[in-house]
Amino acid sequence: MNLGLASKTAVVTGAGRGIGLATVRTLTDEGVRVIGAARTITPELKETGALTVSADLSTAEGVAALMDRALAESGGVDLLVNNVGGGDDVEPVGFLDTDDEQWTRVFDLNLLSAVRASRAALPSLIERRGAIVNVSSINSRLPAAGPVAYSAAKAALAALGKSLAEEFGPRGVRVNTVSPGVVRTSVWEDPDGFGGKVAASAGAEHADFLRQIPQAFGITTGRITEPQEVASLIAFLLSDVAKNITGADHVIDGGTVKTL
Ligand SMILES: NC(=O)c1ccc[n+]([C@@H]2O[C@H](COP(=O)([O-])OP(=O)(O)OC[C@H]3O[C@@H](n4cnc5c(N)ncnc54)[C@H](OP(=O)(O)O)[C@@H]3O)[C@@H](O)[C@H]2O)c1
Repeated sequence: MNLGLASKTAVVTGAGRGIGLATVRTLTDEGVRVIGAARTITPELKETGALTVSADLSTAEGVAALMDRALAESGGVDLLVNNVGGGDDVEPVGFLDTDDEQWTRVFDLNLLSAVRASRAALPSLIERRGAIVNVSSINSRLPAAGPVAYSAAKAALAALGKSLAEEFGPRGVRVNTVSPGVVRTSVWEDPDGFGGKVAASAGAEHADFLRQIPQAFGITTGRITEPQEVASLIAFLLSDVAKNITGADHVIDGGTVKTL
């Protein structure tokens, strides 16, 4: 793809693996100068040549450290991908087993990280007529099927995207949401991650559980989404090819969501 993004500067959160890493790779391939953040700076992230910041983005201090560094090193940001989310506190448990501390931690990572990073980046995004993509989830549309605090936080994130698009669109900033269904990342593939825990709670072998996901989730295409496919959609939305697309929530789920 040549999206005309060369010479832009982007911040990508949750960049160490999965969708965030694929997004960093896609943007660096397009000639974008990327600042990628996660708690762990993985060898794969280092290999992309992105500038890296290790920070806990569930805290105000962590987001401030990232954005201060990004703005100082680059002189300004054109593109912001608020991808970090999910996290250690997303457990396959019900409402009555989710206490206030878990609600707070899930909202800190899945919503407030985007609020804080966007607030810090917006003066620069306004100056440069930039773009934001927030990574939500189809759980915002199918909340009955998922962990309750996570689904609520992702729905709030989609609402935030619409509000920011409305407020800052007239000043040249576009804001879009990308809502993936099941994506092949450590969330599902790590035996100690969310997918491993769901399999264990259902008494299923992890490998068997992974195999039956397309059928169990009603994925029309018969397969889960690859991180690169989400990254390509994010890069498209950041680019001027999409310059009249804003305030929209873009589902990428192989047809999991059956409603309009
Ligand atoms: N995978 C799916 O099926 C799926 C579906 C719908 C939506 N999504 C959303 O897509 C986004 C990316 O998901 P993914 O599947 O790519 O996740 P992933 O493979 O678990 O990667 C998450 C990245 O975020 C970083 N991270 C996690 N907690 C952090 C924290 N407190 N501070 C800083 N960095 C942190 C991780 O590194 P460290 O742990 O080292 O910090 C890692 O680099 C999330 O918002 C998720 O909710 C995913």
